[in-house]
Amino acid sequence: MENNTNNIVPRIGLGTYNMSSKEAEDLSYAAIKYGYRHIDTAAVYRNEEGVGKALKKIFSDTDLNRNDIAISTKLWPGGMVKVDRVKNKEGTIKSLEKSLRNLDLDYVDLYLIHSPHAKGKRIEQWETLLTLQEIGKAKNIGVSNWGINHLEELVKNGLPLPSANQIEIHPWSQKPELVLYLKEKGIDIIAYSSLVPLSTWRHKDGENSLKTDEMYKDSEDSDSPFKKLATQYEVTEAQILLKWALQLGYAILPKSIQIERMKNNFDLNFTISESDMNLIKKLDRGGSVTWEYGDPLAVQ
Ligand SMILES: NC(=O)c1ccc[n+]([C@@H]2O[C@H](COP(=O)([O-])OP(=O)(O)OC[C@H]3O[C@@H](n4cnc5c(N)ncnc54)[C@H](OP(=O)(O)O)[C@@H]3O)[C@@H](O)[C@H]2O)c1
Repeated sequence: MENNTNNIVPRIGLGTYNMSSKEAEDLSYAAIKYGYRHIDTAAVYRNEEGVGKALKKIFSDTDLNRNDIAISTKLWPGGMVKVDRVKNKEGTIKSLEKSLRNLDLDYVDLYLIHSPHAKGKRIEQWETLLTLQEIGKAKNIGVSNWGINHLEELVKNGLPLPSANQIEIHPWSQKPELVLYLKEKGIDIIAYSSLVPLSTWRHKDGENSLKTDEMYKDSEDSDSPFKKLATQYEVTEAQILLKWALQLGYAILPKSIQIERMKNNFDLNFTISESDMNLIKKLDRGGSVTWEYGDPLAVQ
């Protein structure tokens, strides 16, 4: 069932959004020691330095070297609000250079344009990423939160498509049309916010999103399909949600600041039956909820 074509990054990565630099350092170190081989960060998470420090320690304390670990980071494109200056070619180059300094690395394994908000400058940013890849500062390049319309712009301009698209995907937002397109084009799908249906997903003060009160209520329901499946497979609800994504061929990026959860999220050695996968397929509710200010896929 697992689709192994065009796997740009190791299938299980540690997400680091909402982590301080110190948390990103501690959790990245612990996660790599536990077996994770991919860490996902971004310029806007302001924790790249912590990830870099963890790598330094890993390289000195273990036999692992740079080639063993994949690091993804993201260009903040600008353009989300009026004062958020859109990055041109020079700004894009400077952004990756700053990320590399923060991470203390010569290259990243995957550099993504964080969202399509640059609008008229999307093409310029993408062309700059192609150059950055050519000179070896990014092994792979991709996008995040880009829809079919944004990707088709690249086709119209005669440009190569990205190797990966990092998007919000979980049973409540399955995006079948976009998934089909990405699979047809051989673009690796990296799923983020896999754990949205959990009652513990971003439930702390200041962790905002568009997850509705009704969704939070459904997350708590003791009869919820994920709770039932968790009991049936003798795993946690988080493991059901993460394994579902892996079985569909998506890479995943679970984030936790708790060591036990970080380990639990990596232990996915079981299989969800085809009939249960079909049952989960019916739970789609449509749109994204992660971005507090609206679905970035809807940007024109
Ligand atoms: N490209 C983008 O626009 C974008 C957007 C969002 C996310 N991302 C990436 O994807 C990663 C994951 O997404 P995410 O951070 O939204 O959420 P997530 O990994 O789906 O869920 C994290 C939330 O669930 C809790 N949690 C984690 N493991 C758990 C477990 N085993 N049991 C119960 N609760 C658990 C965490 O709390 P504790 O930390 O307290 O354990 C946290 O509140 C991000 O960190 C980031 O790297 C990218």
